[in-house]
Amino acid sequence: MPLAAASDKLPSLARNLFRPASRRPPRTLRHILALDDFEHCARRRLPRPLFGYVSGAAETHLSLKDNREAFGTYAFKPHVLVDVSRRDQQTTLFGRAYASPFGIAPMGLAALSAYRGDLALARAAHAANIPMVLSGSSLIRLEDVIEAAPDAWFQAYLPGDQRRIDALLDRVAGAGYRTLVLTVDIPVAGNRENNVRSGFSTPLRPSLRLAWEGLTHPRWLFGTFARTLLRHGMPHFENSYAERGAPILSSSVLRDFSGRDHLDWVHFDHIRRRWRGALVVKGILSGRDAAIARERGADGVIVSNHAGRQLDGAAAPLRVLPEIVAACGGMPVLMDSGVRRGTDVLKALALGAAFVFVGRPFTYAAAIAGQAGVAHAIALLQAEIDRNTALLGLRHCTDITPEFLLRR
Ligand code: GLV
Repeated sequence: MPLAAASDKLPSLARNLFRPASRRPPRTLRHILALDDFEHCARRRLPRPLFGYVSGAAETHLSLKDNREAFGTYAFKPHVLVDVSRRDQQTTLFGRAYASPFGIAPMGLAALSAYRGDLALARAAHAANIPMVLSGSSLIRLEDVIEAAPDAWFQAYLPGDQRRIDALLDRVAGAGYRTLVLTVDIPVAGNRENNVRSGFSTPLRPSLRLAWEGLTHPRWLFGTFARTLLRHGMPHFENSYAERGAPILSSSVLRDFSGRDHLDWVHFDHIRRRWRGALVVKGILSGRDAAIARERGADGVIVSNHAGRQLDGAAAPLRVLPEIVAACGGMPVLMDSGVRRGTDVLKALALGAAFVFVGRPFTYAAAIAGQAGVAHAIALLQAEIDRNTALLGLRHCTDITPEFLLRR
């Protein structure tokens, strides 16, 4: 049967995912078969301080490792002899239908790893109809990102200071964002020794070592850094507050993290009153806090240990997911930290997650091939979810229940 005729017989999602020729990834991406493959390429592409910043975590990396290991503690018990020929992974969240049950987690400094990184992430997510969460520690104005991707979400790090909270919320709402993610696991900065060891800081401090790292990574130096400087000037932290923040490279400027350790539930109540869109609390690891968030008007929580980057030893989200889902009385429970495979997404859904977010692999994908890289990463994860849904004997991935899992 000719290929075109054969593809007409496929259910629509499968047809979209596996459409030949025009949808094939660029040559540079053809050897990238899974999300982890992006990391190996990015390690070579990025200067050591930058790769260290993205890949690293706090202290001994206990949480970073357990985020992955937690998925290994569950095995699947598939159902067989089910007609799974028509499959679909469309998922509705906060009243909106997305193509898949995953989105792009907020990641700081994406535009330093990849040319106009936040835009590459946002455009690829928009084209694939999945959500992308713009980090508050980003280097491209939030107004430019939502113009490129009108359904992007915004993630804020807010200080416990009403005036600064209001100013940022008003700016975010004025730009047209409808979903706000409030990250609450950063009262103080995590202890990231790896940043010190690899020479990373924000702002970056000019040094011979940094210059050498740039010169020995010419594709990044010319393709990302110099190109950004020439076309857009020195990147600054654009979205931490209502006003522009520090530049990314400076020998003396300090970033302003003040007031974050003052933020509490009283500020949360104020944020809830002022923010009219969906409000999602990110960094919840206990049923207790999830229940408080729900009582005080959150629309959802993201179970997250900040990908192991804040409190080392904080529980892996997958391990506390059932407790949090039980405490949330039907409020959507989202999760991130350690998701790399379609099977991971399905395990999280089985334990009650409504949606998951994936971080680092998308930044690596943008660093390697911009928007096309991110699109390839999205397609890989979608294909895995599609395949694994069929192998589990399901037509829709969100039909999975805890009965499909065996705890080892
Ligand atoms: C920012 O959120 C970071 O973890 O570096």
